[in-house]
Amino acid sequence: MSVWASSERWSDCRTGATGRRAAVVVLLGLTWLAAMPAVALAAPGRANLILRAARLGAPISSTQFGAFLEEINHSGDGGLYAELVRNRDLKEDSNAPIWWSQFTTGQSTASVALDSTQPLTSANPLSLKLSIGTVAPGKSVGVANWGYWGVPVRPSTTYRVSFFAKSSRASSGVLSVSLVRLLDGKVWASAKVNAVTNAWARYTAVIRTPAGIPPSLTNRFVISTSDTADSNSTMWFAMVSLFPPTYHGLANGFRIDLMQKISALRPGYFRIPGGNYLEGDNPATRFDWKTTLGPIEDRPGHDNSAWGYWSQDGIGLLEWLELAEQVHAQPILAVYDGYSLDGIVTPPAALQPYVKDALDEIQYAIGPTSSPWGAQRAADGHPAPFDVRMIEVGNEDNLDPSGSYNAYRYAAFYDAIKAAYPQLRIMATAPVTSRPMDVLDEHFYDDSPSYFAAHAHAFDHVTRRGPKIIVGEYAATTASPTGTMSGALGEAAFLTGIERNADLVIGASYAPLLTNVNEPNWYTNLIGYNGVASFVSPSYWVLRMFSADHGRRLIASRLAGGNGKLFEVASRSPGHTFVLLVNDSGVTQTIDIRLTGLRTGARGGTATVLMGKPSSVNTLFNPNAIVPAVHRLGRLGSRFSSVLPAESVTALNLHTS
Ligand code: AHR
Repeated sequence: MSVWASSERWSDCRTGATGRRAAVVVLLGLTWLAAMPAVALAAPGRANLILRAARLGAPISSTQFGAFLEEINHSGDGGLYAELVRNRDLKEDSNAPIWWSQFTTGQSTASVALDSTQPLTSANPLSLKLSIGTVAPGKSVGVANWGYWGVPVRPSTTYRVSFFAKSSRASSGVLSVSLVRLLDGKVWASAKVNAVTNAWARYTAVIRTPAGIPPSLTNRFVISTSDTADSNSTMWFAMVSLFPPTYHGLANGFRIDLMQKISALRPGYFRIPGGNYLEGDNPATRFDWKTTLGPIEDRPGHDNSAWGYWSQDGIGLLEWLELAEQVHAQPILAVYDGYSLDGIVTPPAALQPYVKDALDEIQYAIGPTSSPWGAQRAADGHPAPFDVRMIEVGNEDNLDPSGSYNAYRYAAFYDAIKAAYPQLRIMATAPVTSRPMDVLDEHFYDDSPSYFAAHAHAFDHVTRRGPKIIVGEYAATTASPTGTMSGALGEAAFLTGIERNADLVIGASYAPLLTNVNEPNWYTNLIGYNGVASFVSPSYWVLRMFSADHGRRLIASRLAGGNGKLFEVASRSPGHTFVLLVNDSGVTQTIDIRLTGLRTGARGGTATVLMGKPSSVNTLFNPNAIVPAVHRLGRLGSRFSSVLPAESVTALNLHTS
């Protein structure tokens, strides 16, 4: 039987008393010391760490480090969803076509207004009415969209344009679609679109920007005519769309730089679609997945009442699932369970439609194409079922003071889902006794990093007879829009406890994941961006280090000595031993490490070190204030020492047997 199939449980091991003197082996910005005979390991003021590689602990789940996303902070619209036109469906404001304006050059005249008399579809009955006065000779008239705090223009980039339009004329002039600089009206790039007729039709074009232009955000997207014959006519536009290239080329897809950053976290799961966004303030504003399917013009969108802005549902259920798929994460699908944020609790007699909705939703995600909703998924372009293995019933139902979650709501969903899909695990969002909880979702927020360090051992003594735990949301809320190094340190200490308790805690995800820096709803977030640039926080780097540097199984470890603000967790895979070390103190700490239970010691490896002033943050303008440094290690053997800088996180990936 291979060592990886061993059922041996890990336990703390005693400190070995060995006399060794340390000598420098590799010095690449870090002090790595290989052990030599003669000096006591646990010298005063030093810490020592014994790693027993042969004493295997619990497997570390593939879901151990995950991601959670909802529509908050313009995470989707104006963020991950690559659409660049803002207020595409004209529903952000019922009185005016906000983020739109008329576009005129020279002596041309025109005005824009919302129009409900020319419905495109029943889901999207509003159109943008362009009333043209004069098209001056050689000049233009049209509509302009201001994007999400600007329209990003990049060099050598292909943009896909589509829109619905009609004209009061039998045939308008040929239209132009252009990316136009705000400052002076410079046209970065444009393309022609066929003349518009007097019936709604869809028009498409491709705009390619030239090489050598600087990336910029102070631009507008314009649709215009230069045909003087269009004077005194009217045109209507609806569902105007402008897409840059997307991650993996998905047509209704996601912004590349943000997806790359999420993907680099290697999330084992993706908890979707919320959060408060799932619940809404009331049932009418919940994430009502059935209204989010199909062509964009057939999606009505909805009031994202939880976070105070309109959601166009360009990211509908299909796209939420595709998002997880694109980063190779297992979606954890949260279903609405009859509780909304305003404290609205669905009574037992009215709950069944929501239970049915959840069953249909699961069928959409994983049902065969012979099933009604599986067939719909195939018709929507995704015949293969998604890799959903866990369903979350609601969100933060501990906030429902009525007790209805335990009394009947959880049970109704649990029974129905288990009956139809016995293979699925059910995640509760509050402790219940009415039915089993396969997994319990717990959330940790606090503005004090020390709260997280203090909770590094929170799971050590939790009963193993209860449900597994996923920490579906955690964050030290230290700064806005993203957190500080001190917050990241506290979280790192906390994550050592999560990984060390991998037999119980099978997942953790930071929240919120994304924020547009122009309008955060939530104080502290993981990744920030505007239309052209993005950056990650120290907390991101911590999560990424944990996600990258762990093995398949825990190994026994014992930390002694030091200043009491050290945290560690160790694990193994064939050929690698991993150690995460957190020095949460303000002083440098030397740690003597002894590696036992392997045929040979460490032949080399890497040390990834994140450090910096506790108050430091990364920003759009200084994105690399805090970034980890990767140091290559030489042969270390089985005894070596490390100097852990003050306020640092170190991930060792040691090449071992
Ligand atoms: O992450 C922000 C919010 O915090 C989530 O929507 C909610 O679940 C929690 O209260």
